[in-house]
Amino acid sequence: MKAFLSLTTAVVLSIASLATYAADPITIKFSHVVAPDTPKGKAAEKFKQLAEEKTKGAVKVEVHPNSTLYKDKEEMEALQMGAVHMLAPSLAKFGPLGVKEFEVFDIPYIFDGYEALHKVTQGEVGKSLLAKLEAKGVKGLAYWDNGFKVMSANKPLKTVDDFKGLKMRIQSSKVLEAQMRALGANPQVMAFSEVYQALQTGVVDGTENPPSNLYTQKMHEVQKYVTNSNHGYLGYAVIANKAFWDGLTPEVRGQLEEAMKEATDYANQIAKEENDKALEEVKKSGKSEIIELSDDEKKAWKEKLLPVQKDSAGRVGQDLIDSINKATGTN
Ligand code: LMR
Repeated sequence: MKAFLSLTTAVVLSIASLATYAADPITIKFSHVVAPDTPKGKAAEKFKQLAEEKTKGAVKVEVHPNSTLYKDKEEMEALQMGAVHMLAPSLAKFGPLGVKEFEVFDIPYIFDGYEALHKVTQGEVGKSLLAKLEAKGVKGLAYWDNGFKVMSANKPLKTVDDFKGLKMRIQSSKVLEAQMRALGANPQVMAFSEVYQALQTGVVDGTENPPSNLYTQKMHEVQKYVTNSNHGYLGYAVIANKAFWDGLTPEVRGQLEEAMKEATDYANQIAKEENDKALEEVKKSGKSEIIELSDDEKKAWKEKLLPVQKDSAGRVGQDLIDSINKATGTN
């Protein structure tokens, strides 16, 4: 009798714990390195709100901004190990994961604006690049825009000769390395979280980023000049740990895919405006001078940087470069 009672208790207890388990929300940790008040920061919050709404609380999303959980390199490793579930690293940061093709987005002047870019990120080429992540245990979910980059330093960067000998911080991309070398600068790979201090203390002389990143990290307070060059693009691939994503029920996964679609539309709607606003704020702050290039200067920058496209073929593949140029109508 006693044995029967304890068996019954055990069954009741395990049913109770199953019920608690079923009621517990699935927690998604979403880590990123930029400020909440940026296109990526805002889109991550939008995804959280939509995911929690659409799953009626079955999923809880914890957004960890500003490298508070992991820095650039660590976040990729953490995702693969399942310590975080979602990230949105910039496309320049997939080389260390072994998918160097994403560096094609770093080629200077490969997109002449958002419209051309979307032909790739919202088309077949973009899809096939995301599919390459699967072999690394990573699920590619979407592309989120940020914007076109400005260059900054404590000296005016107007002509291509102005870069000579400058230590310029870059993201971990061989294409960006080639770009800085083409300008005669000395590229230094560094985690995003360390850039402000490196600029402040003179560990590096300058950097490049879209205005929203420059402004929200207060880089303009430690850089006297910002050149509105728009020489290249910086954006993101939103990714998830594949085992985690595939392990969700089809219902929850479908709801999260819907949330991702809407958050992506939102991200890509606000990106340009956020960057325009940030550049205005930098101007208003009076801390750095914004340099606009003349047509002749723009032409000289392009001439100097266009060969980087050819030089990058060995890294990202000529076929990929060709298919991007075809999609954007450049060739
Ligand atoms: C950078 O490291 O400069 C950027 O990739 C940061 C970001 O995520 O936008």
